Amino acid sequence: MYKIVEARTVGLNIKQFTIQAPRIARKQRPGQFLILRLHEKGERIPLTIKSSDPQAGTVTIVVQAIGKTTSLLNCLEAGDSILDIVGPLGHPSEVKFYGTAVIVAGSVGTAMALPTAYALKQAGNRVVFIEGARSKEMVVFEDEVRAASEEAYIMTDDGSYGERGLVTKKLNDLLAAQRPIDFVLAVGPVPMMRAIARITGPLAIKTMVSLNSIMVDGTGMCGGCRVLLGNASKFACVDGPEFDAAQVNFEVLMQRNSMYRDKECQSLKHFQDHSTEELAELRAELAGKQIEESRFAVEQPTGHPGSLPREDALNA
Ligand SMILES: Cc1cc2nc3c(=O)[nH]c(=O)nc-3n(C[C@H](O)[C@H](O)[C@H](O)COP(=O)(O)OP(=O)(O)OC[C@H]3O[C@@H](n4cnc5c(N)ncnc54)[C@H](O)[C@@H]3O)c2cc1C
Ligand code: FES
Repeated sequence: MYKIVEARTVGLNIKQFTIQAPRIARKQRPGQFLILRLHEKGERIPLTIKSSDPQAGTVTIVVQAIGKTTSLLNCLEAGDSILDIVGPLGHPSEVKFYGTAVIVAGSVGTAMALPTAYALKQAGNRVVFIEGARSKEMVVFEDEVRAASEEAYIMTDDGSYGERGLVTKKLNDLLAAQRPIDFVLAVGPVPMMRAIARITGPLAIKTMVSLNSIMVDGTGMCGGCRVLLGNASKFACVDGPEFDAAQVNFEVLMQRNSMYRDKECQSLKHFQDHSTEELAELRAELAGKQIEESRFAVEQPTGHPGSLPREDALNA
């Protein structure tokens, strides 16, 4: 199991977790994600790795509670564990020198875009970061955004912090001021990414978007994350998650992401009505697994995959 070594709230319904996962920490590259499962019957959800510390053997993720699994996950604290984690998954971001690179991120998308922003800066790009959020309580990692960029703008829908307006307004302002822009990365809600693509497409500015399609296995087998690029089908988990915005069929993505909306709403409502019991059940299940796992490790001879930490055994 994967122990949570640190958990802290960083914004409204947004929590950052640092988790022991040494093998993933050693391999992770900017733009990659992991898939975790909280309990045996739980769904598997993809989350971007914000950072990793190979020395400490930890990875950091940031989670916005929007449905049942993310809400249950955000009830966990340091000392709790996560049942399964697979990763790192997906292609790393393509990091090279473009010139001026604009990162456009919406709320939790900021955490997802930060590792790529740092890498683009390191590659010599002039990084301009536009962070958008509904309101002040959802503005996250402002200090890191400033550290990862030469120029940073915070936009809020209601004007409660930074400038009032959408991230698209700021991008349009920069373009109207004839600012040279050689590359754009947009990470956030699908309508936001589609709006960015509609601005940069006609100007032929190379734009990548990180697609948050529904995922199950993360290995290209289940087809859950299928996206349409022009006429070609791609799988966000193995071919992405970043794709050329000009090619993406955002309508199909939105349609597919809403396929299970009724069930998701029911599931969230049930969780909200029984959150204390569900958290207690999860902790009891994990405690049982912990005992099982330590017995199994003791019984295996050294060198057998069972004697390795679970993450290493899964990848052995
Ligand atoms: C590659 C990748 C990286 C991601 N990284 C992060 C991250 O770093 N932090 C983070 O908070 N979230 C991230 N997400 C989104 C996260 O996986 C979903 O929020 C999560 O699966 C929702 O699970 P749930 O059970 O809480 O909600 P559900 O009940 O499954 O869904 C609730 C609502 O969220 C929508 N939804 C469902 N799945 C997704 C999805 N994959 N993306 C967007 N909306 C979805 C549904 O349409 C529904 O409206 C990422 C998604 C992908 C594909
Ligand atoms: S998540 Fe199953 S194919 Fe991508």
